[in-house]
Amino acid sequence: MSDGSPARTNAVQPGPVQRPARPIAELDPDVARARPTGVAELDRVLGGGLVPGSVVLLAGEPGVGKSTLLLDVAHRFASCGQRALIVTGEESPAQVRLRAERTGAVHESLYLAAENDLGALLTHVDDVAPGLLVVDSVQTISTDTVDSASGGVPQIRAVAAALIAVAKQRGIATVLVGHVTKDGSVAGPRVLEHLVDVVLHFEGDRHTSLRLIRATKNRYGPADEIGCFEMREDGIVGLADPSGQFLSERATPVAGTCVTICIEGKRPLVTEVQALVARSPTGGTPRRSVTDLDSGRVAMLLAVLARHGGIAFGDFEVYAATVGGMRATEPGSDLAIALALASAARDAPLPQTLCAIGEVSLSGDVRRVGGLERRLAEAARLGFTVALVPGGHDGGSLRSAAIHGIRTLPVDTLPAALAAVANMRSRIGEGRRPALRTVHGGGASA
Ligand SMILES: Nc1ncnc2c1ncn2[C@@H]1O[C@H](COP(=O)(O)OP(=O)(O)O)[C@@H](O)[C@H]1O
Ligand SMILES: [Mg+2]
Repeated sequence: MSDGSPARTNAVQPGPVQRPARPIAELDPDVARARPTGVAELDRVLGGGLVPGSVVLLAGEPGVGKSTLLLDVAHRFASCGQRALIVTGEESPAQVRLRAERTGAVHESLYLAAENDLGALLTHVDDVAPGLLVVDSVQTISTDTVDSASGGVPQIRAVAAALIAVAKQRGIATVLVGHVTKDGSVAGPRVLEHLVDVVLHFEGDRHTSLRLIRATKNRYGPADEIGCFEMREDGIVGLADPSGQFLSERATPVAGTCVTICIEGKRPLVTEVQALVARSPTGGTPRRSVTDLDSGRVAMLLAVLARHGGIAFGDFEVYAATVGGMRATEPGSDLAIALALASAARDAPLPQTLCAIGEVSLSGDVRRVGGLERRLAEAARLGFTVALVPGGHDGGSLRSAAIHGIRTLPVDTLPAALAAVANMRSRIGEGRRPALRTVHGGGASA
């Protein structure tokens, strides 16, 4: 019966408040305003910078560069007159000091503590009174108030909750590092994502120097921006103009490559797609290997090329990838992937001045994509002179694109695109106009 309901026996009494409610007009909005970190590419993703009292989760695989980036951020923060505290649970202070020496991040207002216990960490925060706290990583901090293994979900949750409370109370901008592994997360930052204010993912292939930071949640700004960085010997540097990074540089065109322009966040990025088609040596099921592209879409494009383009891949092995570690998974890259595959299958190079933009449907139609004008402007800026684009765009966008110095060839279908490319054979060998930067691979310095 309702008489026995717990609500009656445990009726909540009014309790003390932390701060009385005040008229909204009297509140200071500057408290929640972002302060630039000085790392422009990070500020771009954060929506201006770090907000005092906010908690940011920086998630990424080991070795991607989280500690290196945050050391840079803490150094810049310290250089602006406020104290920054890095609590490291994985590295010794000497190791971090060594890195700071290598990247030029030694500063008198930058404090460092090696600690694994939450209570001790909070004491360091009391002692240093930092404006910025970096906890590297949240998985290596634990508290004996929670009866579970270090690094386990209950521990991570308790540690994060305590740090969030301290951040809010004292207005400390806090960055929590969270490790994720390729095969799903080990007691991963997943549990933290709804607790923190901002979630950033640090991505990059260890074999290339390109690094991307993507926001997947941001209570203080848009969550559709990306930041681009390059990993170097002397630290991590922002790439304000990364487009040329995703192209390979060669004197003569080779078969199996085609350039497209993807939109990442708000940025158009010129990206090269490469394909290789080879007879299967084993005679078994032919290999299909796809890197940094959507493998489902590549399989679909192979089927569309067979059905509508007269190019059967049958028992050939197919490899498809991008250059420089960029992902080209949006549908707008379909046309370039299909042309790269066709070029590889026919061993017929495309003109080096050509790029292709458009989604390819199952029926072989080339469909329109958003942001065409921005994509074309970026392609023209990097020296491309011809673009295959979806048909049906009004004259307006095409005319303004022509002003930017790129000729557009509207194609309605994939067969029409293949025919247009075949007609361009005479142009092959023309180089791109501006010199493009080379792609740095293998972690080598710039
Ligand atoms: N002395 C060094 N010279 C050049 N690169 C280094 C040096 N020490 C470490 N690195 C590179 O820096 C990268 C980033 O390391 P780190 O910032 O510790 O990553 P994370 O914190 O994400 O695990 C590593 O992949 C490593 O290869
Ligand atoms: Mg680290």
